[in-house]
Amino acid sequence: MDTDLPQRRIGILTSGGDAPGMNAAVGVVGRAAARRKMTLVGIKRGYNGLLFTDATKDDFIEELRLETILDIADQPGTYLRTARSKEFMLPEYRQKAADNVRALGLDGLVIIGGDGSFKGALDLCRLGIPCITIPGTIDNDLNYTDMTLGFDTAVNCCADAIRSIRATSRSHCRPAVVEVMGRHCGDIALRAAACTGSEIVLAPEMPWSVDQVADRLNYQIAKGNLRVTVVVAEGAYRDSMEPFDVYGFLHNFPGAPKACYPDEPMTAVRLASILKRKCGMAEARATVLGYVQRGNQPTAYDAAFACEAANLAVKLMSENLAKLDAGEPIEHYAVGVRRGKISYLPIEEALQKKQKFNKRLYKIINNQE
Ligand code: F6P
Repeated sequence: MDTDLPQRRIGILTSGGDAPGMNAAVGVVGRAAARRKMTLVGIKRGYNGLLFTDATKDDFIEELRLETILDIADQPGTYLRTARSKEFMLPEYRQKAADNVRALGLDGLVIIGGDGSFKGALDLCRLGIPCITIPGTIDNDLNYTDMTLGFDTAVNCCADAIRSIRATSRSHCRPAVVEVMGRHCGDIALRAAACTGSEIVLAPEMPWSVDQVADRLNYQIAKGNLRVTVVVAEGAYRDSMEPFDVYGFLHNFPGAPKACYPDEPMTAVRLASILKRKCGMAEARATVLGYVQRGNQPTAYDAAFACEAANLAVKLMSENLAKLDAGEPIEHYAVGVRRGKISYLPIEEALQKKQKFNKRLYKIINNQE
């Protein structure tokens, strides 16, 4: 430990959907901070934790003991808890948060989360709070970094589940629709489909129609492949599906059932049911993987990424605080990984990077290239 370093105090919070590897990152931030004689303060429940009052402070603020955070470093979920703070969207609450950061005597904040959390961090930077961000979300929807923390774990979890589903699909000679998470990003669907040999993938980044999917399914069926897997990203119904008249379709079909309402959105169950009828299959099944995708122990990749990202975050914070002491201007950085190497760039720039969806891989899986 370097005894010449000034005593610092930094805060850490996790925000947005929890992601595997968040605890690992907090553990390494703790270790790297201790090495630099920094005290680490945990802020609970995302940005909500910065909106404490005198009465609620103890519910939200915890001086983190290294033993505690190292003990949970390999666990999924987030020890610090998380939230998507609605109040924090409002300027008066953001000002309150910045005031509370100062009242706690914090020199800066390390923030782990997705794009919404990064935007929140940028707001705090503009209010004079030094921030460093780590991308933590299963969605992989931050375009400046190849991978976000938790994405690899989520993909592996989906791949395991899809392999199991394909085994039973194969046994029963029936297709499956599997819905995965990702919000507006199709990366989980794309990677999970690629590593399971799934025949069709649907993503929010690429336009698609139910008729096209039925054509592709029919093509596979004609080849004798009756265990086709359609991997659909949850955002694909909302963002990129051509309007489909569910009501008209079902009511034009001979012997059509009536349990379908025109204003209800498309779902995996509904898509499977429509494809079954359109392709003349006796059966088609749907599975929504849901929260199991978030609750896994980080893969080796995610754990290693958490280590490197967290260590770099503390280094950048420490350098920024030294610059501030010297009266120099600072940049607020987002840590990430680019072409396999840990890297960083200003948060503002990170948020402006263009979409990195791999269209070529999408076309290969869908047999279009
Ligand atoms: O951002 C992570 C994520 O798991 C998304 O993939 C999903 O759309 C969302 O969170 C679900 O959020 P909630 O936990 O609020 O249901």
